[in-house]
Formats: sequence, structure tokens, C-alpha cells
Amino acid sequence: MDDLDSIVDGALADFQACIDPAALENAKAKYLGKAGALTAQLKALGKLPADARAATGARINAAKAKLEGALVARRASIADLKLAAQLSAEALDVSLPGRGVGVGGLHPLTRTLERVETLFRSLGFDVADGPEIEDDFHNFTALNTPENHPARSMHDTFYVEGGLVLRTHTSPIQIRYMETHAPPIRIIAPGRVYRVDSDATHSPMFHQVEGLWIGSDVSFADLKALFSDFLRNFFERDDVTLRFRPSFFPFTEPSAEIDMRFGDGGWLEISGAGQVHPNVLRAVNIDPERWQGIAFGMGPDRLAMLRYGVDDLRLFYENDLRFLRQFQ
Ligand code: PHE
Repeated sequence: MDDLDSIVDGALADFQACIDPAALENAKAKYLGKAGALTAQLKALGKLPADARAATGARINAAKAKLEGALVARRASIADLKLAAQLSAEALDVSLPGRGVGVGGLHPLTRTLERVETLFRSLGFDVADGPEIEDDFHNFTALNTPENHPARSMHDTFYVEGGLVLRTHTSPIQIRYMETHAPPIRIIAPGRVYRVDSDATHSPMFHQVEGLWIGSDVSFADLKALFSDFLRNFFERDDVTLRFRPSFFPFTEPSAEIDMRFGDGGWLEISGAGQVHPNVLRAVNIDPERWQGIAFGMGPDRLAMLRYGVDDLRLFYENDLRFLRQFQ
């Protein structure tokens, strides 16, 4: 083994022994610095006989390249060592308790809808469903609201391509259900509905719960009994009173708004309702001489506001966790 080989071996061993960047740079200087061992070899080249210079020079350069490669590799592994040491010392204290998995919760409006469903199911109602993008026939025409009917202006509708609309109410589910089921019928249909409207008590997307009860002699008396029972159970109090206020909907006749209040508090409108119009039954081939019934469209978002004491509907839709967590 000549000088050059032992310099290289010595350097590799020294580099390997370094465990921090400063020590490695010092070791580098020992071989490659101005007064380094390899540099001395280069300087001695000039004293060699001319015919030996080229071969020796090439060997020295190869040795130099080898040391530089080793330096790069060692720098990287020292950085890795440092990171691993930090991880085990600080971030990864295996004796700490685990972080646990965050358990999600149901949105207060979802809870409200589930509660409404449970209560109506207990009264013998099925839960039906329908599309949020509706066609003109189901959203309006079959509900006794033909084109050009003034009642169409009651809804500020979001129109979708191809004559479709974001349904403005859950009433089209009445039609879809009666198209596929013969009476007697007892359903509710909760869902999202859309109107161009936004303030503290209106959101462009909100919820309705449709109700449809068709039988041979179902009347307003049944509607009143149904709602009284439902509201007392929903709010878990007995001092709920109802008021039916005359109103107009093309698909019910007569029509009413249902208001409620606790004790002698203020009245609050919670639902539209009425006796199903014979034309609606005709639109789905049900004989209005044989069958009659009641329908309602209730605002569960209002019920949630009352139940939870929330005075701005928009809070339910902003999804700020600080708000939502209060209902877990
Ligand atoms: N669809 C009506 C609305 O959105 C509510 C309603 C439903 C009224 C059923 C009567 C019967 O305002």
C-alpha cells in the first residue's frame, strides 16, 4: 500500500467517525485543505520525473473525487442522524398517551330531521324521498300550478338547464309518491329546497318536511290532531297551542298556515297546510270522489331554532365548529 492509498483509507475512516457537521469539515481540511495530505501530494507532482506525472496525477485526482463523494454521503447521513435523534427525543415520546380519533357528530339540523322522522313513524307515517333537481311537471304543473299561473311567482326559483329547477318545495314528492302508490297513503318527506332568498330567517337552501295523508275521510280535524300531537312530543311540553290561519296554495283547498306558540308567547308560523286539491289527485289518476286528504309543508329549520334557542338561521349553515360543538 503506497502513500495515496493510506491517505484515502485514513480519510474515509476519519469521515466515518465524525458525527457532527463541524467535525466533518475539519476532517475535510485535514485532507483536502491548503495544508491537507492530498493537497501535499498534488504539490509534489511537480518534482516527479515527467514520464510519471500523468499517471500519478490521474491517481491523485481519482482519490480526490473519491473523498469528495464520501464527504457528500457523510454530510447526508449526519443530517439523517440528527433528524432521527430529534424525532426520538422530542416529537416521538412513545410514553405519551395516544391522540385518539376525533369522533364526528350529527349536525343539529340532521338531528332535528331524525327526530321529526322518528315521531312521525311512531304515528304510522312512512318516510319518502325525491330528487332535488325537479322538472316543471312535478314542481308546479301537477300541483295545480300550470304555466302562467300567478302562484308560480310565489317562488323565486333557481332554474337549471333544460327546463329543470332546484325544487322550491318538497311538494313534488307528493306527486312522485302518488304516481307509484295507491291510497291509503301516510307519508312525510324531509329534504332540501331552494329559493332565491337570504336574511336572518331565510337561507337560499333550507329544509322542508312534506306530509301527505290520503284516506277515505281524512280532514282538517285529523291535521289538527296530528300536529298537536307531533309538536307536544317534539318540544316535550304540553303548553303548545296551534292556530290555523287562512291562506292560499294552488294545491290545497282550503289552505292554512299553521302557527304555534308556547303558553301565551308570540305566534310563530311553522307550516303551510291544507286539504289536497281534487286537481292534484286527478293529475295522478286518483279519484277525488273516493279519496281525500290533507297535506302540509313544515319548516324543520324553524323548529330547530326554537328547540335550541338559536335566533339566526344562517348559523346552522356556516358550519363554524364552535357553534356546532354546542349541540354534541
Ligand atoms: N309547498 C308549500 C310551500 O312551500 C307548503 C305546503 C305544502 C302547503 C303542502 C300546503 C300543503 O310553501
